[in-house]
Amino acid sequence: MQKIFFSIILFSATLSAQYTDISIIKEVKVKNRGVVVSAHPLASEAGAKILKSGGNAYDAVVATQYALAVVYPQAGNIGGGGFLVGVKNTGEKFTIDYRETAPRKATHDMYVDKNGKADTDLSQNGRLAVGIPGSVSGFFATSKYGRLPMSQLIQPAIDLAEKGFAVTQQEAALLNSNKAHFQKYNSSTNAFIKTAPWKAGDILVQKELAETLKLIQKDGLKGFYQGKTAELLVAEMKRGNGIITLEDLKNYKAAERKALEFDYKGSRIVSMPLPSSGGILLAQMLKMASFENLEKYQQNDTKAVQIMVEAERRAFADRAEYMGDPDFIRDKTLYLISDEYLKNRWKSFSFDKATPSSEVGKIVIQPKESMETTHISVIDKEGNAAAVTTTLNGLYGSKVVVSGAGFFLNNEMDDFSVKPGVPNMFGAVGGEANSIQPNKRMLSSMTPTIVLKNGKPYMVVGTPGGTTIPTSVYQSVVDVIDFRLNANISVNAPKFHHQWLPETVAFEKNFPESTIMELEKLGYKTERWNQIGRTEMILLDDNGNIHAVADGRGDDSVAVE
Ligand code: DON
Repeated sequence: MQKIFFSIILFSATLSAQYTDISIIKEVKVKNRGVVVSAHPLASEAGAKILKSGGNAYDAVVATQYALAVVYPQAGNIGGGGFLVGVKNTGEKFTIDYRETAPRKATHDMYVDKNGKADTDLSQNGRLAVGIPGSVSGFFATSKYGRLPMSQLIQPAIDLAEKGFAVTQQEAALLNSNKAHFQKYNSSTNAFIKTAPWKAGDILVQKELAETLKLIQKDGLKGFYQGKTAELLVAEMKRGNGIITLEDLKNYKAAERKALEFDYKGSRIVSMPLPSSGGILLAQMLKMASFENLEKYQQNDTKAVQIMVEAERRAFADRAEYMGDPDFIRDKTLYLISDEYLKNRWKSFSFDKATPSSEVGKIVIQPKESMETTHISVIDKEGNAAAVTTTLNGLYGSKVVVSGAGFFLNNEMDDFSVKPGVPNMFGAVGGEANSIQPNKRMLSSMTPTIVLKNGKPYMVVGTPGGTTIPTSVYQSVVDVIDFRLNANISVNAPKFHHQWLPETVAFEKNFPESTIMELEKLGYKTERWNQIGRTEMILLDDNGNIHAVADGRGDDSVAVE
């Protein structure tokens, strides 16, 4: 710690238990040290420990994800999927796609009843909502870029699961509010169900999960996708309407994909390509906003918000129409992010009034509106960077825990367009490009992003939040590049969100009222949301000073090597 030349603890909460000596560290400034920013102090610490033992950013991000699967069960996972964007200090870029896939028995209309009505309860809750988990395959694909053995990366998570850890106030409240769901969607009890309500400091021990992690430690990929764990998962499917088979699990493979890259005002932005819409949306929104010289304005000014919202509207209309798994559809990425296409798209923009959503895309059906996922940003002392966003989709995913194996399963099937025009749990609509087919990956909004200057990473950023993910990352990039704000202001300033449909613009509760009122006068429909996202940002200055900020909205925390 003595080499940290400046460090601020904005909020400190001491937890009482085995893992007691932990503080939530919101902001750190450091040089020549690796840092990990994640949704939970124990997970950030697990990553930092790996950096201290000689691991690089890719080792650390794997250890952090395993630890999150234990200490942050609402979103951390081995039963879900995610995306990694990596940029090495050599400038080499890569992405790993460990998005879930539809089971082989999945069909186009599996959530549509005989009267043609979509049943989103089935795509969101219980065993039929589960896609083939990709995370463990993703961790193995990532560790090719690391240097420590997987057995070492997984050990902190095993210790946390076996010995237990103190739950935070926020996790206790969520476990309590989901108790009825855990009971409804599971046929036996599990570590997350307790007679008395959970309270901060209670110890959560996960013996079954520890055993599953030990199987992965011993048998590698086969410890998850074959053998006992796979059999327990399939047995869990059979306790209800699940359709995942042993063959589905054995066949799952994470994919490496070429990163989506583009230039923005002298920086190079590296983000996630399809099957996440995140990178395309980010490119479209930034480029459209640049037609209006956004740098002339200030964060959350009326005109700046108007420009950004209108770019969001047009980009999300394209998401609904064109985006899906590139292995199944014609990939139109290059066209969608071309200046020519976007300039044309921007012609209908006017400062005089809001553009009606019906003018920028084909509306099939009016969607309902609605609202876990988590992001990790890492940089090591050699300058290798990793941005990972990983998810179970909803809070605790499908709410189904694999009995005997102790982990939550995702409800990612809901990210498919279950029927054209029917919104998913984030209000996103889609069509044929994102329809269900066996082995297909469902479209995502996750946007792990690394920004480069002179070929070297200087910003590592991402957030959870469903469809608010790309719009939040967009705000982060604009804050830093256009408005020249620091990481703390960018992460913690109130955010806004628009996604074409519904037509409303959402503002975080402490957003400047004057801006909202001016936008309303221009015809924007607005609503207030409690919170948007949990952004984890690492920012480097030209002298190599690192400024790492964990979002103030949650238990998110920075750990230093
Ligand atoms: O992949 C996606 O876009 C969604 N499944 C992410 C869900 C999410 O971020 C939920 N978090 N609040």
